[in-house]
Amino acid sequence: MPTWINSIMSAPTHIIPQAYKIGKSTRITQNGHRPCVVWFTGLSGSGKSTLANAVEQLLMERGIHTYVLDGDNIRQGLNSNLDFSPEGRNENIRRIGEVSKLFVDAGVVVLTAFISPFKSDRAFVRSLVEANEFVEVFVDCPVDVCEQRDVKGLYKKARAGEIPDFTGISSPFENPENPEITIRTAEISIEHASSHIAQHVLKLIIPA
Ligand code: ADX
Repeated sequence: MPTWINSIMSAPTHIIPQAYKIGKSTRITQNGHRPCVVWFTGLSGSGKSTLANAVEQLLMERGIHTYVLDGDNIRQGLNSNLDFSPEGRNENIRRIGEVSKLFVDAGVVVLTAFISPFKSDRAFVRSLVEANEFVEVFVDCPVDVCEQRDVKGLYKKARAGEIPDFTGISSPFENPENPEITIRTAEISIEHASSHIAQHVLKLIIPA
């Protein structure tokens, strides 16, 4: 059994939470905006990172405190001990959900770019924050378009059997049922899509 499963199973006994005087509401006052999670979900190559990048720039221009968590980067550090099995992905998303919750507590708008193929994992992350602090963005792009783009050459390798459990090829992607936003990246420009998402986020986080 991997050690991280062990540590989850033996989760908190004799742990008493500490209260701190500086909390989320103080940070909201200081920042002039509320925090939230902008959760991009979709196939590899669908455009999650490109969109997160563009939306972050738009928010930053408006003085919003932001941070991006990206699957390809996080899997080289914090989550470098996780594979792409259903359990590995489950733990990947659980950790990112908890990290996102910390960012929200820190008053930051955190944008996340993870395939996050399983509905139950996404529902778990949503449950960690307030209802008005979660924006699920379904980056909806047909697998054949992602495969044609094949920016990282991974679909070719997956087809050749060199990458097991590849999402869209040999591992499932469960479409979101009620995402706050759906972006069909094969049909809309990055400029339009990112502006639409940024407007949605700004309405949510800036007091009227
Ligand atoms: S997730 O499914 O656990 O959410 P995550 O977003 O962290 O995945 O990582 C996906 C990235 O890892 C892809 O964009 C791709 O570059 C790379 N990758 C490597 N192996 C796989 C695989 N088997 N399935 C999907 N993506 C993979």
